[in-house]
Amino acid sequence: MLAGEYGAGVAKSLELLVALGEVFGAEKLVPVEGAHVSGVSYKNLGDAGLEWLEDQARLGARAKVRATLNPAGMDMTRWREMDVPEKFADGQTRIIRAFEALGIEPTCTCTPYLVGHVPRFGAQVAWAESSAICYSNSVLGARTNRESGPTTIASAITGLTPLYEYRLDENRLPGKLVEIDAKLKDPLDYSALGYVTGKLVGTTVPYFRGLGKPSLESLKTLGAALATSGGVALWHGEGVTPEAEKVKPHVGEVEKVTIEEKDLREAREKFTCEVADPVTCIGCPHCSLHEVGEVAGLCKGRELAKRLWVFTSRGVYAEAERKGYVGQIEGAGGKVFVDSCMVVAPLKEMGWKEVALNSFKSAQYSANMGLKTRMGTARELVKEALK
Ligand code: F3S
Repeated sequence: MLAGEYGAGVAKSLELLVALGEVFGAEKLVPVEGAHVSGVSYKNLGDAGLEWLEDQARLGARAKVRATLNPAGMDMTRWREMDVPEKFADGQTRIIRAFEALGIEPTCTCTPYLVGHVPRFGAQVAWAESSAICYSNSVLGARTNRESGPTTIASAITGLTPLYEYRLDENRLPGKLVEIDAKLKDPLDYSALGYVTGKLVGTTVPYFRGLGKPSLESLKTLGAALATSGGVALWHGEGVTPEAEKVKPHVGEVEKVTIEEKDLREAREKFTCEVADPVTCIGCPHCSLHEVGEVAGLCKGRELAKRLWVFTSRGVYAEAERKGYVGQIEGAGGKVFVDSCMVVAPLKEMGWKEVALNSFKSAQYSANMGLKTRMGTARELVKEALK
């Protein structure tokens, strides 16, 4: 491949992976079963990124393993309803075309595992998107490092990745025991737990005790928050995740920290300011069918006084539409968008100033963008948005 026998695009991709492997002292390259590519929004890629992608496609590179795509900066069909500027839409459309030319599926979701891209336990994969990395490593037990857009594209094209870090058993052991002394009822509580823990552990692998019985929605938002405030790529939960029993730390083996109710409350307060007219955004990570259904149940037959935007994947949207959920939300005046989210969309250009959110990941990013935030459970926020 490096000699160019499979084309210049493949050679370039492998060069990148070999260099990465050398930096991290990897002994060899191993095959990957799939890739999930991030860095899709025109907001992040800009024209330079777009041209690089188009060049790769021109060089004849094509994905040789299944590869899916993270959210773009807009709903690819309803972007005008999002007030996305025309120039942005042009750039974004070209980006998606370039990805398609590379053989990467334009799923445009951060929850590929909800739309059929579900790696096997123990499989080596190359995933980017921090929340999906956490889900893949921890909940599914597949193995990925914290990959970037370019490395996932390179792995998709070559079908390879360097073997280091979270791909090896010894680096999947916990470094901190996190005892939970708080009631976790709603996905928002798990999101708060992830935010508080991430701050405490940084990139160390946490081992949770006392997680209760988290729903799929709680698991996805927990990982998203862990990766936001810290650099967590893998966590274990006693009685919850598939590797927890095998890696259970013995007494005194790792440092213990305890997280209490007040820690979660303080985290929530940090992102709760006075807001006058926020856009309520539900769907970070992208909504499951259950979450769209919950919002729809609250909106059914009612009218919204404030803007309510729900973000999900195309796969979940199709099912939600079939079940009548989309009609119930949009009938109340809300919007259900696909392909995008409140973080990768060009919110400044769209004129947004305030948001109401049920996820610490989107709260942190929104605050970084200078927006005022308010936090609540999906139920609380939708009720506030209703007339
Ligand atoms: Fe997904 Fe956007 Fe949140 S990519 S995890 S919805 S910030």
